[in-house]
Amino acid sequence: MSVILGIDIGGSGIKGAPVDTATGKLVGERWRIPTPEGAKPADVTRVIKQLVAHFQHAGPVGITFPGIVQHGVTLSAANVDKGWIGLDADKLFTEATGCDVYLLNDADAAGLAEAKFGAGAGVRGTVMMLTFGTGIGSALIHEGVLVPNTELGHLWLRDKHAESWASDRARENDDLNWKQWSRRATTYLQHLELLFSPDLFIIGGGISKKADKWRDLITLDRSPLVPAALLNDAGIVGAAMFAEAQAGVEKPARTSPAKPQHVEKSATKKAGTKATVKKAAAKKATVKKVAPKKASK
Ligand code: BGC
Repeated sequence: MSVILGIDIGGSGIKGAPVDTATGKLVGERWRIPTPEGAKPADVTRVIKQLVAHFQHAGPVGITFPGIVQHGVTLSAANVDKGWIGLDADKLFTEATGCDVYLLNDADAAGLAEAKFGAGAGVRGTVMMLTFGTGIGSALIHEGVLVPNTELGHLWLRDKHAESWASDRARENDDLNWKQWSRRATTYLQHLELLFSPDLFIIGGGISKKADKWRDLITLDRSPLVPAALLNDAGIVGAAMFAEAQAGVEKPARTSPAKPQHVEKSATKKAGTKATVKKAAAKKATVKKVAPKKASK
């Protein structure tokens, strides 16, 4: 039995527990510390250190992060402090805890755990997990192998990032009833079905606890769809699984400099209001006018 500490960094809480990676079961009580206001890197690091100390853990630690994680560097921060962008969070956590840290995206962790031990256990082919909460997280797993950082919550849909239209937060912000939200979720999921033809969709995040509200309202053509089974534990379990798989494997060197991802700009800002679109058009027109003068010199 291999026991690894899994830690899940969430918007309201940072939770950890030792996980038996052979069964996907927690072998100790979960410990949760509220996420510090603003989720700034230094404050979150302090909490990670506290959690590791609480479990008196010395081995590898798997940690989730709610943004893009490439080779230990956090490259986006859609719903957390922007100070994470371009940060070597792996190094930061490793130095703070003295443990061998392995960092991955939160939805990727949940997907790994659900595909192996949860709603996707035994399913062959392609499993796609979507977590609906403050944002929308995604995990794409084929025959047990994860393609990391798919970020399908940022798919452009209805002139917005999908997550700002179909997440659980969008449901609350736009005051939608379950039927209205399910219509949006169906549009989004049908699009993903067209693009990926998953053998199974697993729906997780906050809404997975209220599956009776939406389960019969989301209809897809081909792919079956089920609520997540591991609920609150998926991130912790997936983080531990990832750490186990990566421990001892040399961490790959980055092939490109860690640059922030453009998804950081809010969807509405990117699309532009009518006024900004007009301004941009005017600017373009000015440039056009100036060009021939230069050419005639
Ligand atoms: C982030 C993803 C994350 C998801 C759920 C999105 O805004 O871009 O990386 O998995 O939220 O936390």
